[in-house]
Amino acid sequence: MNNNILHDFPLLGKKFGDHTVTYLDNGATTQKPDSVIKAVCGYYGGCNANPHRGAYALSVKATDIYESARQKTQKFINAQSSDEIIFTKNATEALNLIAYSYALPRLQKGDEIVISIAEHHSNLVPWQFVAKSTGATLKYIYLAPDGHFDRHDIETKITANTKIVAVTHISNVLGLINPIDTIAAKAHEVGAVIVVDGSQSVAHIAVDVQKLAADFFVFSGHKMLSPMGIGVLYGKKALLDAMPPFLMGGDMIEYVEEQETTFADLPQKFEAGTQNVGGAAGLSAAIDYLEAVGFHTIEQIEQELITYALHNLRELPFITLYGCDAAEGKTGIVTFNVQDVHPHDVATVLDSFGVAIRAGHHCAQPLMKYLGVNATCRASFYLYNTKEDIDRLIDALKKVRSIMGY
Ligand code: ALA
Repeated sequence: MNNNILHDFPLLGKKFGDHTVTYLDNGATTQKPDSVIKAVCGYYGGCNANPHRGAYALSVKATDIYESARQKTQKFINAQSSDEIIFTKNATEALNLIAYSYALPRLQKGDEIVISIAEHHSNLVPWQFVAKSTGATLKYIYLAPDGHFDRHDIETKITANTKIVAVTHISNVLGLINPIDTIAAKAHEVGAVIVVDGSQSVAHIAVDVQKLAADFFVFSGHKMLSPMGIGVLYGKKALLDAMPPFLMGGDMIEYVEEQETTFADLPQKFEAGTQNVGGAAGLSAAIDYLEAVGFHTIEQIEQELITYALHNLRELPFITLYGCDAAEGKTGIVTFNVQDVHPHDVATVLDSFGVAIRAGHHCAQPLMKYLGVNATCRASFYLYNTKEDIDRLIDALKKVRSIMGY
């Protein structure tokens, strides 16, 4: 299966220098299949026009492509209505939209925002900003020794004062699937809303926003085979309806007078200016691709890869693994350090063998501090990776310490 999938991704067969790339940085961004590349090129080469504006055939076609991508996205995450799908630049912009339009006007001193210590900066810095601007308190769910959210913290940190709970579905560092339905139930019990960062989940496990009981759910297209520059904010219609617009300008208005403006209905209210129709065409093709492969198969591939990777990494005495070192409840992300070698040096040595991983703080500095490190190495797998990719990672890791003089 993997070999057939591999052939759909033109970049993965290419040589960079002496090596065909072994791409293990899928947490940062995924590669794109031919069908997505063709959809983007097809849009720009065949029907580029500004959507929603022109009374001519090309513009109508561009509008069709854009709006059908919205409907496809609605079905993909099982939202109740396509009005609940707002296209953004990425997950970060979607989270900022929620922070500015939902949280800032509502929160005040005495209110609490609860996030986890495993958040990416994009689901952390906006909440610090909201807390500082409104006088609300920012509280953290910490981790149990196995890297999972501490159950006691979930029970005790979310209180009658909590107005927003914002947590990642899957940490970009630890790869663990968090119990969103349990956290959502607790948030709703106290009258809070739950914001879910699905950036690392939506491409890896089947997502149903209604089953998760998420009030808001965000993700970036580029981490799910789509182009960069297109992201999604899902929000329950009643919540989005009650929120003021985030960005002002063209296409989000109903009437504009010299001193006053009335705004368009959802979803246009939150989509000011010319939108990324090429990105939406790519997102649509990516959803088609993922659905054709099926999440059952994707999860099976990633489980096999993570099981194999953890088994082989555990055999290396100079490797420290972070988070849970069992594959169960985990997607294809493994975070580790090599004894005595800085992660940036590890990544540079691996690159000399054609193996691409991410090294650094992974935009999760509070989590790094919590784990007691400044930085780590992260290998992240996806549906086109193979056991041979992991063999190449392990072989290269075995050489790192001697190359660095140990
Ligand atoms: N959020 C991306 C990552 O985890 C960039 O690498």
